[in-house]
Amino acid sequence: MPWGVGPGGPPFILSNGLSVLSGIRRVDAADEHLLSAPLSRASRTMPGTVVVGTQFGDEGKGKIVDVLAEASDLVVRFNGGANAGHTVQVGGEQFAFRLLPSGIIRPKVLNVIGNGVAVDPGQLLEEIDALRARGHGVQNLRVSDRAHIVMPWHKTLDELEEKAKGAGMAAGTTKRGIGPVFEDKVGRWGIRVTDLLDDIVLRKKLDAIYPVKQKVSRAFGGTDTFSLDAVYNRYRGYGDRLREFVADTSVVVHDAIRGGKSVLFEGAQGTLLCVDHGVYPYGTSSACVAGAATVGVGIGPSAIDRVVGVAKAFTSRVGEGPFPTEVDDPVASHFRERGGGEYGTVTRRPRRVGWIDLVMLRYAARVNGLTDLAVTKIDVLAGLETVQAAEAYDHFDTELRHFPANMRVLAECSPEYRDFDGWEDLPAKEWRRIAGKGFDALPKAAQAYLRWIEGEVGVPLAFVSVGRGREDTIDLRKAAAPAKAPERKATESPRKPAKTKASRRR
Ligand code: IMP
Repeated sequence: MPWGVGPGGPPFILSNGLSVLSGIRRVDAADEHLLSAPLSRASRTMPGTVVVGTQFGDEGKGKIVDVLAEASDLVVRFNGGANAGHTVQVGGEQFAFRLLPSGIIRPKVLNVIGNGVAVDPGQLLEEIDALRARGHGVQNLRVSDRAHIVMPWHKTLDELEEKAKGAGMAAGTTKRGIGPVFEDKVGRWGIRVTDLLDDIVLRKKLDAIYPVKQKVSRAFGGTDTFSLDAVYNRYRGYGDRLREFVADTSVVVHDAIRGGKSVLFEGAQGTLLCVDHGVYPYGTSSACVAGAATVGVGIGPSAIDRVVGVAKAFTSRVGEGPFPTEVDDPVASHFRERGGGEYGTVTRRPRRVGWIDLVMLRYAARVNGLTDLAVTKIDVLAGLETVQAAEAYDHFDTELRHFPANMRVLAECSPEYRDFDGWEDLPAKEWRRIAGKGFDALPKAAQAYLRWIEGEVGVPLAFVSVGRGREDTIDLRKAAAPAKAPERKATESPRKPAKTKASRRR
């Protein structure tokens, strides 16, 4: 019997040419307010904007998304899963989301979890319950019926596979099952949101998948025994609770774009963690670059007008792998303490920290096609006498300006630093006052540092963040004439670039 056709007849309903399962949200009825004008680029009032991380994640994307969400109708997640931790501060309240899009606390913004996201239903329901308990509604949430589901064996295998890989191959994952769920997606062993809503399909798939996963788990030395019936009942239950949010979200987003609405695509992780363009195999298992928004949502590239790359004023990462600009104490402690949160949002591991790396940022600008740059945590660098920035790598006396694919080469690279004067430490309320006044109110040395970064990356600076709150953000687009690509060369006369003193790791 083919999947989806039960003894009682086909459970599918055809409506307006769309194939939808009985019980799933009818997008054309509930989202009617999003439909109107015909598709015409000229008629679109606001653009499709993608926000991506340009480093190893944790750049402060959640905050930039939150600021941009104010002028958006939709916020859409397109990659990653519960390995992400997006922190948003609103007034006195702080929210840390793993699966929920960062616009969820704005009731007028429709928040979408696209098909490219690995959905852990237990985690998602926990976040929904926690928001409700704090008095926030979630009626503005839609979840793709095509998104893949994190199953119990994915988390177990995440641990076991990391152990099997051992030092040198293990990425230091968040243990959220992300690698295994995407392995199953590509291997066509996956269970999708739509399956949770259909008892027959779910049971049939589990009957096929479960014994195989038991074998695989045992082959890796696992001792877990999942009860098939328990998994089936639990995930059916998840389906029942999530049903009200499930939709064909490609239709939702497409119709919003047709209706001239503003759509913000929220990337998780960062470019250097991308499975295609990152520090493979030390990154994550989904694509984290802007192009992934098309596949991970079900829209075409023509829907994207703007790509905002978020960079922290320094670099940080959790997990393994080469990190050329990594620093030790006392600078590391300065970054961690002033950063106020340089601990993994998901794992609470202390983040590895280092100077900003322009080889990475230029690479990120290229592979994402950045149109705008946002630099966060400029206040964290305050109080340092000298601020350094890597502008190239030295690899056995050869200068590398492009990010290498070979991780051994990357580990052997020494950063070529440019030194900048530091800027004074200021109380939080002074930073907020500066943010209110604009870019020119920043300490002059910070301005020079930021303008140099902008010139090196070759992408106009659109936002500078000097604190956690929405109000601590300078929006340079408000003050400036239409942005044009800045000159490639730095304008100020820097001190002679000093090569790092750190010995190369051969
Ligand atoms: P995974 O995504 O849990 O498989 O982890 C793979 C690598 O990506 C590990 O080094 C993680 O620490 C890192 N990682 C995954 N998600 C994030 C994130 O949202 N921020 C920062 N690092 C992340």
